[in-house]
Amino acid sequence: MSEKVQDKDALILKVLSERKGEVVSGEELAIVLGISRVALRKRIYKLKEEGIPIRVVDRRGYVLEALPDTLIPPAVLSELDTEIIGRRYLFFEVVDSTNILAKEMAARGEPEGTVVAADYQTKGRGRLGRSWFSPKGKNLYFSVILRPPVSASFVFQLTMLSSVAVCEALRDLGVDALIKWPNDVFVGGRKICGILNEMETDGGKVRFVILGIGLNVNVRREEFPPDIREKATSVAVELGEEVSRRKIFVKVLAFLDKWYKHFLEGGKEDLFYFWREHNYTLGKRVAVDGRFEGFAIGISPYGELLVRKDDGSVVKVSAGDVDIL
Ligand code: BTN
Repeated sequence: MSEKVQDKDALILKVLSERKGEVVSGEELAIVLGISRVALRKRIYKLKEEGIPIRVVDRRGYVLEALPDTLIPPAVLSELDTEIIGRRYLFFEVVDSTNILAKEMAARGEPEGTVVAADYQTKGRGRLGRSWFSPKGKNLYFSVILRPPVSASFVFQLTMLSSVAVCEALRDLGVDALIKWPNDVFVGGRKICGILNEMETDGGKVRFVILGIGLNVNVRREEFPPDIREKATSVAVELGEEVSRRKIFVKVLAFLDKWYKHFLEGGKEDLFYFWREHNYTLGKRVAVDGRFEGFAIGISPYGELLVRKDDGSVVKVSAGDVDIL
């Protein structure tokens, strides 16, 4: 049993899921949790109210046949095995934008690693002032609060790290994901994930960074709005079947945790290596903000895209829209 499962409700679900279909006695569960059987019973009934189908077997104990695909904290925390990312986790039915909420929470002092997720967003925000398609119950919308002890010039590595973590999680599930500069994740030429990172600084030092991740999971092709239908995809479209949002969520958080710890230890070579190895932009002819064209030949140590124009000059692109031609 992982010692990191400290939340008692999460621990109940962890034990019942590990022994799924089996009756686990109240006595045993109460001992594992270090609480009374009456307190346990209360928690079980609260979990049932939250939609977890735990069966109470008279005088014998409790059974869980399967954990439904919910993102409520006890369910997510029962499967999460991270050290920093998601140790504090909040889930909302609906928010305007998880980034807006996470920023407010960070400004009020919410700790590093806190994750805020929602079942849907009414004002999902994208890069460059765009909106983000955020239908209910289909996809993942979440924001992570980080407080790295570094100066603002290091933050692009966190941007890289977020797309690398999503890309690695998707590849682990058999989805052939690639990173498009600066931090989109693409599959087969279509966007599956967008990332909006925002930061607040204080005298050149980072106060906090918000990593805002929107990952299309179970949207079907025809459910995308017409203007993005040809440009977007989802995990379900790619795999040909619906997938558990929680499974993907927990995986992405685990990879974020891994890469963030690596970042804190000062490691960046592996990150750049993964980014280059799974890149969709490098080596392609691109148009930058519709202003000029050229070949994407590399990235600078500061995360800028290096584009060689037809006249041979190399331009460093630090922000903007890059279309693959
Ligand atoms: C992009 O334009 O590619 C970035 C999209 C980022 C969307 C995510 S969804 C969770 C978080 N909350 C937001 O309002 N935006 C980000």
